[in-house]
Amino acid sequence: MPAALTLESTVAEWLDHPAGGPILRRLLEDNGQNPGVLNAVRNLRLDRLAEMSDGRLSTAELERLAAEANAAHVDSPDQGERPAPRPAWRERITPGRFTGSTVVITGAGAGIGRATAARVAREGGRVVAADVAADRLDELVATLDGHEVVPVRADITSQDGVAAIVAAADGQVDALANVAGITDSGMPLHEIDDELWHRVMEVNLTGMFRLTRAVLPLMLEAGRGSIVNISSEAGLRGSTSGTAYTTSKHAVVGLTRSAAFMYGSDGIRVNAVAPGGVATAIDGAMGSAFGRERLEPMLVTLPGVAEPEHVAASITFLLSEDSVNINGALLPSDGGWSIR
Ligand SMILES: NC(=O)c1ccc[n+]([C@@H]2O[C@H](COP(=O)([O-])OP(=O)(O)OC[C@H]3O[C@@H](n4cnc5c(N)ncnc54)[C@H](O)[C@@H]3O)[C@@H](O)[C@H]2O)c1
Repeated sequence: MPAALTLESTVAEWLDHPAGGPILRRLLEDNGQNPGVLNAVRNLRLDRLAEMSDGRLSTAELERLAAEANAAHVDSPDQGERPAPRPAWRERITPGRFTGSTVVITGAGAGIGRATAARVAREGGRVVAADVAADRLDELVATLDGHEVVPVRADITSQDGVAAIVAAADGQVDALANVAGITDSGMPLHEIDDELWHRVMEVNLTGMFRLTRAVLPLMLEAGRGSIVNISSEAGLRGSTSGTAYTTSKHAVVGLTRSAAFMYGSDGIRVNAVAPGGVATAIDGAMGSAFGRERLEPMLVTLPGVAEPEHVAASITFLLSEDSVNINGALLPSDGGWSIR
């Protein structure tokens, strides 16, 4: 008999289960999705899929599927020798790496920004945690009890929001992580209305520009600083997202390189990270049949979906002085997706 499936079983365990595999594939097909996308999330637990689906896949529904799979009592066919599972990666805190530093992080309430904020705080930094969602900031502060976190409810697309973030930093910003971002539902150019275009540019690019512009005088005065901008796989090529998101993330690369050149000789380093697929609740829904038809087949090249902490490890490296000799770099943090 195969082992019982739970929501804590990995997608790989589900797919390899004689009853669970077909059930999971059918679930995707019923939702109009290609079951091949499951290969990219093999290492994730099933309950992470529910978290990532932003309510589209409920825990109750997954529990019902687990009960259905376990009740099927199907004997496991002989699957021969299975390779031993790879040892899991563990986040290792570098004590004191950010002691004495104030680090501003946008999008700190969820996903990659939240994992970055948690890591910086646990490595001794004072975190100015900015997000438009106050409830998410409350959760962040609660999980980082005993660490220095200054929550700022602020929208980076507004001048007031930017001013509130800088005010919370209280005259000292050693590092800035521009993480906040939104997606574009995979829309192809001919289906994008002006509102979606402007919204994506405002959050992903103009907000980053405005906050960086507001922070730079403090860094110039101090003669040092590190800025990390979050681009994306969509900043490297045209086949992973819609046109507005792809354009915004390519522009982030341009902003990064220009600023790195302009301020490098003033002791300020500016780098970018390009994450691949990451298990967060960012809206991954496809709003266009045309976009889906083009983009979905490309997902089979995805080597895997990372946890937010994996990407936070890359971001905090570039924020910290460990990256002292790196300026103007675009670091893919994507499990090697970009070389496929
Ligand atoms: N998740 C992925 O697969 C992935 C892949 C590549 C790049 N990225 C990029 O990484 C960054 C973080 O993505 P995530 O997956 O962690 O997203 P997420 O949705 O989990 O978190 C983003 C956070 O940003 C906040 N935010 C959104 N707009 C804001 C605004 N105007 N002002 C202030 N805060 C705002 C949200 O409230 C949210 O808490 C984004 O720039 C995204 O484009 C994500």
